[in-house]
Amino acid sequence: MKALVYLGPAKKALEERPMPEIAAPTDVIVKVTKTTICGTDLHILKGDVPSCQPGRILGHEGVGVVHLVGAAVTAFKPGDRVLISCISACGKCVYCRKLMYSHCTTGGWILGNTIDGTQAEFVRIPYAETSLYPIPDGADEEALVMLSDILPTGFECGVLNGKVQPGNTVAIVGAGPIGLAALLTAQFYSPAEIIMIDLDDNRLEIAKRFGATATINSADGKAAATLMAMTGGRGVDTAIEAVGIPATFELCQGIVAPGGTIANIGVHGTKVDLHLESLWDRNVTITTRLVDTVSTPMLLNILRSDKLDPKLLITHRFKLDQILDAYETFAHAANTRALKVIIEAE
Ligand SMILES: NC(=O)c1ccc[n+]([C@@H]2O[C@H](COP(=O)([O-])OP(=O)(O)OC[C@H]3O[C@@H](n4cnc5c(N)ncnc54)[C@H](O)[C@@H]3O)[C@@H](O)[C@H]2O)c1
Ligand SMILES: [Zn+2]
Ligand SMILES: [Zn+2]
Repeated sequence: MKALVYLGPAKKALEERPMPEIAAPTDVIVKVTKTTICGTDLHILKGDVPSCQPGRILGHEGVGVVHLVGAAVTAFKPGDRVLISCISACGKCVYCRKLMYSHCTTGGWILGNTIDGTQAEFVRIPYAETSLYPIPDGADEEALVMLSDILPTGFECGVLNGKVQPGNTVAIVGAGPIGLAALLTAQFYSPAEIIMIDLDDNRLEIAKRFGATATINSADGKAAATLMAMTGGRGVDTAIEAVGIPATFELCQGIVAPGGTIANIGVHGTKVDLHLESLWDRNVTITTRLVDTVSTPMLLNILRSDKLDPKLLITHRFKLDQILDAYETFAHAANTRALKVIIEAE
């Protein structure tokens, strides 16, 4: 089968690989129909994710059809259409029992990281009964690809951890797919204001179309002052960090209102200063989280009710044969205006 293989920093290739096999009775082999590329795949290609070793098939998002089931699998049968979660969960360990699937002691974020992933014709999904979701009849499979990772991430790490409330003010720093997913799902709670901050005017324009009440281009280095002026000097109740660099986490510290929450989503590769000299008396909460994908069943319901249109995030489509072009397009978003790219594997 064809698969996109990580070959070390800045190196990848579309290679011929053997078909995955059932390794445990709880495994399912899925024939991938649609997958996508995540910002985290680009982090891997930069060499930022040492747990992912050369030779690994990348990808942790997608939908497909059940091809083979392990002996212990009763919830799925060959031919079933399934959504693949980016998080594999055994469902039994101490963290799974607390619904912290991301910290599953034998699972978590392993797909396309420590085991072969979804950017291939077939993928082995461990703990399939608690890591796959049946696709409802008539569901739009492209939209569902957005539920593997980015919508649960924006919602759980940004909106839920950030305690977005009706009438509150929210700022989202970073208008990439994750920040935009937070923007879409924050609106479940009717905040009064959602201010998006980015360096890319195209993405800020998209954010306006997705429901942002205001946008700030932070290229001039004055985003904090601009936001404080916009909010009458108060700052925001929720500041969501969706970039993953020191400058943006520091910006969140500068714009959070007393009693507010900084909800970090970004994957940080370097240390960041914590400004307790200005925050110690402000009753703020800082949260961090690796997506658990516990909200996936709820997001599937919302999708079915047409209250959310994740297809808005899809800008480009490619065949698996063209996945190297898909990476080029996705990696140069400022020029290509890419958000999420769909890769058809069948
Ligand atoms: N916590 C989790 O479980 C989890 C899951 C998935 C992704 N992530 C992380 O979320 C982050 C966002 O992911 P993404 O796919 O949207 O990334 P992305 O790179 O597509 O988007 C980042 C956005 O930040 C903007 N940006 C860069 N520097 C900026 C600055 N100084 N000020 C303002 N904006 C700036 C960019 O223009 C871009 O639009 C990444 O760090 C990713 O690794 C975390
Ligand atoms: Zn991801
Ligand atoms: Zn577990």
